[in-house]
Amino acid sequence: MSTSRSVDLVGRDDELSALVSQLGISSFPGTSRAVLLAGDAGVGKTRLLTELRDVAVEAGWLVLAGHCLDLAEGSMPYLPFTEILGRVLTERPEVAASVIERHPTLARLAPGRRLQVSEDRDEAQSLDRGNVFAAVHDLFEAVGQSAPLLVVVEDTHWADQSTRDMLSFLFARPFDGQVALVVSYRSDDLHRRHPLRPQVAEWARLRGVERIQVDPLDETQVRRLIHAMHTESPLAEASVAEIIDRAQGNAFFVEELVGVSWSTDGPIPSELADVLLVRLDRLDERTLEVVRAASVAGRRVSHTLLAAVTGLAPAELEAALRSAVESNVLEQTRGSAYRFRHALLGEAVYDDLLPGERVRLHTAFSAALQSGLARGPRPSWRSTPAGPATG
Ligand SMILES: Nc1ncnc2c1ncn2[C@@H]1O[C@H](COP(=O)(O)OP(=O)(O)OP(=O)(O)O)[C@@H](O)[C@H]1O
Ligand SMILES: [Mg+2]
Repeated sequence: MSTSRSVDLVGRDDELSALVSQLGISSFPGTSRAVLLAGDAGVGKTRLLTELRDVAVEAGWLVLAGHCLDLAEGSMPYLPFTEILGRVLTERPEVAASVIERHPTLARLAPGRRLQVSEDRDEAQSLDRGNVFAAVHDLFEAVGQSAPLLVVVEDTHWADQSTRDMLSFLFARPFDGQVALVVSYRSDDLHRRHPLRPQVAEWARLRGVERIQVDPLDETQVRRLIHAMHTESPLAEASVAEIIDRAQGNAFFVEELVGVSWSTDGPIPSELADVLLVRLDRLDERTLEVVRAASVAGRRVSHTLLAAVTGLAPAELEAALRSAVESNVLEQTRGSAYRFRHALLGEAVYDDLLPGERVRLHTAFSAALQSGLARGPRPSWRSTPAGPATG
């Protein structure tokens, strides 16, 4: 859980009190043993969990967090649990020692021991999963004897199979004593074939496991966030309105847009564009072609207009659109139309077009609209020096 805390928490009272009461932090036991905390990238999951940690520590809980990282599947099995075990070894060395004595396997998860595991393949294979699961369960129970324990596993959209299996085990087996779990993940990362997607559905059906959604901030909250970040020289109302419109309640986007001296008519900040464009990495070339065309249309584009502009055969266009929707890049809207799941992503894609590509697509849109071949709103992105004005 590392997130900047330059400004006070804005909003999130409902989510925080739901977490505190469900996990039994205010009065043990709560109604749930575990919470799945879902929300889009940058919406504020970590910030909320930082606040939860403070409340829990204040109430006498020990909070241990482990993070999943964006690594190749299986390259570092049980990674967040290694981080957590490392903390137990530091903070409760006697407890860790006695659990390791009962479950020698656990020692191999300890930070520093992992290298030896991967060097010795036979030994790695003998790291019996059942034993590791039971050992970690036992560890949490043992730590929970002296003080209530909150275990946080962050960013499980990046969890590998071993970590997901460990979590399934921990969710399914009750603890003796005060042990609660919170697991966060990016809901917009869970594309159709993402391995966590079916897993989350299964976990949410278990007794004692609840799902809490962190939604985008509302307009008043975004306004407060902007003002809190810009106390010295308040932004002009026009800039505030522009940021509210573009960030769509996403705290990270708000910070990025406020953080640069940003001309509302210019391209979006390059660091923000990089973060957004990562979402396109797993798309195939044809889907990318359709997504790029959609970016020229503005916030919403009809199916017929896209068909006219891309010139793709119906089946090809449908396959590409399906893939863009399943990857959470586009979403369907009313009247056989599509829009970017996040408007800023549309802008980033537009800014990323090659100059010739942009001219070609604008021309194709104009031609399709003028010929009456397709109806639709006129392309609405700003014009840029590299591209013609639309229409
Ligand atoms: N409610 C809030 N009040 C004030 N600042 C916030 C709030 N929510 C988020 N922030 C700030 O916005 C930024 C992004 O939030 P955070 O890191 O919590 O997002 P996240 O959902 O964890 O994103 P990711 O999926 O990338 O991990 C952080 O700098 C955080 O401090
Ligand atoms: Mg986070």
